[in-house]
Amino acid sequence: MEALAEAKGLFLQKVTWVHHWTPGLFSFRVERPQSFRFTSGEFVMIGLAGTDGRPLLRAYSIVSPAWEDHLEFFSVKVADGALTSRLQHLQVGDHILMGRKTTGTLVADALEPGKHLMMIGTGTGLAPFMSILRDPETHERFGHIVVAHTVRQKEELAYSEFLGEEIKNDEIFGEMLRDRFTYYPTVTRGAFHTQGRITDRIRDGRFGADMGLSEAEHAEARWMICGSIAFNAEMIGLLEGMGLREGTRSNPGQFVVERAFVG
Ligand code: A2P
Repeated sequence: MEALAEAKGLFLQKVTWVHHWTPGLFSFRVERPQSFRFTSGEFVMIGLAGTDGRPLLRAYSIVSPAWEDHLEFFSVKVADGALTSRLQHLQVGDHILMGRKTTGTLVADALEPGKHLMMIGTGTGLAPFMSILRDPETHERFGHIVVAHTVRQKEELAYSEFLGEEIKNDEIFGEMLRDRFTYYPTVTRGAFHTQGRITDRIRDGRFGADMGLSEAEHAEARWMICGSIAFNAEMIGLLEGMGLREGTRSNPGQFVVERAFVG
């Protein structure tokens, strides 16, 4: 892969950590190239050499915040998926290919100032929110930060120990976030204390009530959305129905949606 990386101008990065959450989900870390810069919440192309000898790359949101010295990724394992069927076998010491350019729409600059930041994701759509949550700029801009994660089975609530407990005692963010962060996991196909799709909970007011928000405060919230195509589409309809507008860096609005990344 070294020659391929060089020929295509890609980084070749060593895997330093692998964690399997469930038979269908895993996370891994690679070393961070010294020259690699990104904004928390962005994605990058990563992959392996394809069987045709060309790079086989997919867009992956970076789980790590921009200040961290490694790069973490969160992935599904698809048995017949061209890339993930192979990526799931990564071991510490293996290498992956990585692009040099990062991009993404889940950036605070595309949102108007607001008190509450609602980051709503399904499946591996949680990944960029893990990054944004741990970026100090997020805490400067928003008074209350929410990460809502909807999955089918509770075992798929990856990072839930960190989000539910450990973050409160985190050296860097513990004190800052203790009273200003809410983790809101929901499970759609199994028993759990908060059941059902997050979209239904937002629509029928349970989410706002659980956050302790009045209707006016709810309308003042800013939103970041990342999940499957169907989920993104449903959330856009819901937010537009609340009179909110999608923002861009040049024209900030009340919500942003990551479309490149399908969790
Ligand atoms: P459900 O179990 O009701 O389909 P997936 O694994 O298919 O990507 O789904 C991840 C989670 O996102 C599941 O809990 C799923 O709920 C939920 N989900 C899928 N599509 C939508 C949608 N259009 N709106 C809200 N939640 C969705």
